[in-house]
Amino acid sequence: RSIIAIVPAAGVGSRMGADKPKQYLMLGQQSILAHTLDALLAHSEIDLVVVALHPEDKYFSKLPQSQHPKLTQVIGGEERADSVLAALDYAQTLNPNAWALVHDAARPCVSHEDITQLIESVHIHPQGAILAAPVRDTMKRSDASGHIVSTVDRALLWHALTPQFFPVSSLRSHLSAALAAHVSITDEASAMEWAGVMPGLVQGRMDNIKVTHPDDLQLAALFMSQK
Ligand code: C5P
Repeated sequence: RSIIAIVPAAGVGSRMGADKPKQYLMLGQQSILAHTLDALLAHSEIDLVVVALHPEDKYFSKLPQSQHPKLTQVIGGEERADSVLAALDYAQTLNPNAWALVHDAARPCVSHEDITQLIESVHIHPQGAILAAPVRDTMKRSDASGHIVSTVDRALLWHALTPQFFPVSSLRSHLSAALAAHVSITDEASAMEWAGVMPGLVQGRMDNIKVTHPDDLQLAALFMSQK
């Protein structure tokens, strides 16, 4: 099986309030994106890493990984899903039978074991699967005024993480159809669900956090230092 990793890294990360896109902020010795790319490039099951970049990106070419033979870049789009679709279009021309392993640029702490576990889950989830973590807190549903309406059974609730692993051709067609129908798509599984596919859940580590707010940087640095 051929596996193409896709890294949407075309966002500007406005919630970080930093002077550059969050994936280029430093985490110890190198940037968040550099750590993320290292994790994917080091995995022997991954044949190629396609990074989707902002059209005016001026940081990527300075990364030591930018010249890696297993790495290639495409121009991303308006939203995360558009960036993923641009990379899927490229992957489809390379090998329509490949599988896509889509991973957020902003999740540098992903472990080698979790990537392997997800890839191997194809035997029980031939339609594709995602890394996910069970919800620990009691979950509440609110109304618009901020009052509790009910308690949601957490036994069936999961945090959707990345990587998310699907056949390139089916993910590409369902993602483009969902986008054309103006469905809100915040991860790859949403597009598959929308098309009636039920992706598998593979329990991953909770320290595979997405760096979104400034506070997350310290936490990510701690997790990286424990690897
Ligand atoms: O903003 P958020 O944390 O949801 O972004 C998730 C990932 O999607 C980030 O790695 C970001 O760079 C990427 N992204 C993208 N293209 C966009 C918007 C976000 O590749 N237009």
